[in-house]
Amino acid sequence: MKPIIRVAKKEELDALLNLEEICFKEEKFHRKQLNYLLLKARSVVLVAEAGGIIGSIIVLLRENIHNARIYSLNVHPAYRRRGIASLLMDKTMGLLKEKGVTKITLEVGVNNKAAQNLYSSKGFIVDKKLYNYYKNMDDALHLFRKL
Ligand SMILES: CC(C)(COP(=O)(O)OP(=O)(O)OC[C@H]1O[C@@H](n2cnc3c(N)ncnc32)[C@H](O)[C@@H]1OP(=O)(O)O)[C@@H](O)C(=O)NCCC(=O)NCCS
Repeated sequence: MKPIIRVAKKEELDALLNLEEICFKEEKFHRKQLNYLLLKARSVVLVAEAGGIIGSIIVLLRENIHNARIYSLNVHPAYRRRGIASLLMDKTMGLLKEKGVTKITLEVGVNNKAAQNLYSSKGFIVDKKLYNYYKNMDDALHLFRKL
C-alpha cells in the first residue's frame, strides 16, 4: 500500500480533525484553528491518502518565507511504521525548497522517541530544550534543519 501524498482540500477539514482526535491527546487542534490553518494561514497542508486520509502534515510559513515551521504531523495508528510520515516529510521538504524556504523548525516532546527518530533520520538537529512547553508541562526539544 503506497499512499498518495497531496495538498489537502478544504472539504477535508472533518477528516483532518478526526485524525487529530485519534493521534493527539491534549495538544490537538480544534475545528476553528484547523480551519484557519487549512484556509487562511500562510501554510502548507499535505495529506496521505489511501482509501481515506491516513496521515497529515501542517507547515506554517514565516512572514519572510525563508523559514517554515512544522506545526503538526500525524499518521493513523493502524498505518504507522510503514514509511508514511517519512513520505510526508520528503514531499514537504521538496515543496518548501521549491518555495524558497531555507530553514525548517519544529518542536517535539522529550518523550516522543518515535518522532525524534523520524526527524533525526531527516537531518533535523536539536538546538534547544523548551521547558514546560506543553499544556501538561512536559518539556519539548526545538529542532531545525537547513534546506
Ligand atoms: C511520529 C509519527 C508521525 C511517525 O509516523 P510513521 O508513519 O509511523 O513513521 P515512519 O514509518 O515514516 O517512520 C520513519 C522513521 O521514524 C522512526 N520511527 C517511527 N516510528 C517509530 C517508533 N514507534 N519507534 C521508534 N522509531 C520510530 C524510525 O526511525 C522510522 O524508520 P524505520 O521504520 O526505518 O526504523 C507517528 O508515530 C504519529 O503520528 N505519532 C503521533 C503524533 C506525533 O507524535 N506526531 C509528531 C509530533 S512532533
